[in-house]
Amino acid sequence: MSYFPAKDKGPDRSLGILKDGYNFARKRLQKQHLDVYETKLLGERAALLGGEKGAELFYDNDKMKRGGAMPAFILKTLFGENGIQTMDGNPFEHRKRLFLSLMTPEALDRLFQITAEYWERASEFWEKKRKVVLYNEMLTLLMKISCEWAGVPLKDKEVKKRADDFALMIDGFGSIGPKHLQSRKARQRSEQWFENLILDVREGKLEAQEGTAIFEMAMHRDLNGNHLDARMAAIELLNIVRPTVAVSKFITFGALAMEEFPEEKEKVAASEDYLYYFAQEVRRFYPFVPYLPARTKKEFAWQGYNFSEGQLVLIDVYGNNHDPRIWEEPETFNPERFRNWNGGLFDLIPQGGGDYEKNHRCPGEWSTLEILKASFQYMARHLDYKLPKQDLSYSLNKMPALPKDGFIMKSIKKK
Ligand code: HEM
Repeated sequence: MSYFPAKDKGPDRSLGILKDGYNFARKRLQKQHLDVYETKLLGERAALLGGEKGAELFYDNDKMKRGGAMPAFILKTLFGENGIQTMDGNPFEHRKRLFLSLMTPEALDRLFQITAEYWERASEFWEKKRKVVLYNEMLTLLMKISCEWAGVPLKDKEVKKRADDFALMIDGFGSIGPKHLQSRKARQRSEQWFENLILDVREGKLEAQEGTAIFEMAMHRDLNGNHLDARMAAIELLNIVRPTVAVSKFITFGALAMEEFPEEKEKVAASEDYLYYFAQEVRRFYPFVPYLPARTKKEFAWQGYNFSEGQLVLIDVYGNNHDPRIWEEPETFNPERFRNWNGGLFDLIPQGGGDYEKNHRCPGEWSTLEILKASFQYMARHLDYKLPKQDLSYSLNKMPALPKDGFIMKSIKKK
């Protein structure tokens, strides 16, 4: 084995990654302009990958797989066990087509419309309140939007309870102690709720429209021609509804961007093209997903580093979105950079990279953009508000990140 200098010597760095958060891999990779760096995590030798080349390797299906990569504490909270995130090969590609089939132009237009309508209704309600915390409001609003879009019935009186569970899955997965346990319980309750609905659709007790997530998950057949196990279908339906609710974080960060860079608001209001650039820059600039894991399928050498079979590999998602080798002045918020962006597969990777069909790249990128565009357009064109004194800062050491006070707004008026 050859000597590879770019590595952490000494103890396991699992606590280090919790402490340094989004900067853990960047600190190691970017300082030395590296694409690979070895560290030790969860008691294993792990390779950190960064840069466009690192991302390309991460998404090379000949060398990498997902099975056995995601830690159990994340599967039991955020993602659900045995869902699409952990699949490989033909069964994965078959399941992925199911997710991608939901993202038709008509379905995406519908999502934009639903989102805009819910903003309109919410702002009427907010006008009557002294102040609101945008992040919290977005969790409930997106819970309603997401369920309506997916065909999931949601009664007014259950919105709060269900949204609280979704927030626990989204925010509680990385915690330790009681909050982690709450997050697990929230997942169990949510899976049970969706499993019952899937059975209702199959038994004809609940009407569902073809093309909606609930219908397609209930009726999907695997490569052997069998329906998914009802719990599995529920987990995959959650894989649509849960991340749609999580778009609330990007909306909160977008509101922060309009505050920190006030000239942005007018530009967003004025032009649909600019609206899209702004949404993309929010996804690039602000921290959300920090890293993604895979495992090597075999032994191989790359850039002088010897990967062993089954080795844990992490791609530096946040780091790539801020890599000076990829982005000019990465620490400047500049939507204009997307005017002439060529849509690279491995540069802008807040929701993963590579190919939608062959890789695990997020099938919800288009729907995320529709929600963001509808939301930012509404905020910029139709909402006047003031900000009371509050802490708008966010920390790159805390994963997942969010402005501390959740973006509090007061004196809200529709215009
Ligand atoms: C996968 C991020 C919104 C559905 C992913 C991945 C990331 C991600 C990082 C993993 C990519 C990989 O493993 O290579 C996000 C973020 C979102 C978001 C930050 C914004 C809140 C959505 C939405 C949906 C969705 C709105 C559904 C409508 C999924 C699914 C997968 C996935 C099903 C698994 C895909 C696979 O394993 O092939 N997302 N996502 N996501 N996302 Fe999203």
